[in-house]
Amino acid sequence: MSSKPDRTEPITVAAVDAAGLQDEALAALAGASTLAELTELRTRYLGRRSELKQALREVRDRETGMTLNAVRERLEQAFAERETQLEREQLEERLTADGFDVTLPGEELRIGTLHPTTQIRRIVEDAFLGLGYEIRDDREVETVEYNFDKLAFAPTHPTRSPRDTLFLDENTLLRTETSPSQIHQLEEHEPPVYMVSIGRVYRRDDIDATHYPIFHQFEGLAVDRGITLADLKGTLLRVARVLFGDDRRVRFRTHFFPFTEPSIEPDVSCGICGGAGCRTCKFTGWTEFGGAGMVDPAVFENVGLDPEKWTGFAFGCGLERGAQLRFNIAEVRPLWSPDLRVLRQF
Ligand code: PHE
Repeated sequence: MSSKPDRTEPITVAAVDAAGLQDEALAALAGASTLAELTELRTRYLGRRSELKQALREVRDRETGMTLNAVRERLEQAFAERETQLEREQLEERLTADGFDVTLPGEELRIGTLHPTTQIRRIVEDAFLGLGYEIRDDREVETVEYNFDKLAFAPTHPTRSPRDTLFLDENTLLRTETSPSQIHQLEEHEPPVYMVSIGRVYRRDDIDATHYPIFHQFEGLAVDRGITLADLKGTLLRVARVLFGDDRRVRFRTHFFPFTEPSIEPDVSCGICGGAGCRTCKFTGWTEFGGAGMVDPAVFENVGLDPEKWTGFAFGCGLERGAQLRFNIAEVRPLWSPDLRVLRQF
């Protein structure tokens, strides 16, 4: 009988050279350059059918068991370390290939703001929707009839002249104010009416610190029974509060408009000097922020309403003027500038 073990005989523990196996596995591991290779080697050296695992399964004495387990632990650790290392290398390679440096700081995102004029528009819309008004939008190209005649402008009123107003032809013009909306609204709706109309208006003005030939107005109209000047003053006070805050003072002066009687102009105390007087308020401490008055009986008649039955008030304010007064912008021109350095301040 030969002492050589045949294949049916279990491999004895002694047949495993634990130290040799460990060296061989570690050398192979060091040579693995991809994660796929690493997986293959892990199966070969630590897999269920690896020499080591088989030996461990058949181990009989404690000492050999401890040796083999130590090898297993050492190899498992080495595989885990190599795996982390290969993963890192692979990531780095990919990042270099893509030309993408994750350590670079991100690009700063510029957060925009609404244009100051738009901010005013929205404040006004919110305030009046809250008071139960409807918001209206009308044409910018108007007729002489709606821009002047029905608003009871005298035939000789200077604004009717092409020197003041931009005419497209004899009867057509770019509206000089949002007041024609009063007529449209009253022709289209039976009172009671509570509306605010917002939009662009045009005047033949030279550009200077406070004038621009295009600007925006909001026009208010309330027509109901028993409306008084007190209602108008309360409403304008409310406008001043939402636009300029609680700290500003408000006053009213008498004035003239063809389509209101009596007519008034509201002033707000200057936000730059606090009312003491400065260049912006022309040393008066006050700035006008619109025109207003009780709807003239002639207007009611022009739209077929009985002035004995209906009462109302109307007001008109500039959005740019509102923005200037809210944000203390001394000039109107920056509001029409495309320079973002200007607009980013508000
Ligand atoms: N339309 C007038 C203006 O542009 C303002 C105004 C509106 C006055 C409504 C009275 C009533 O100056």
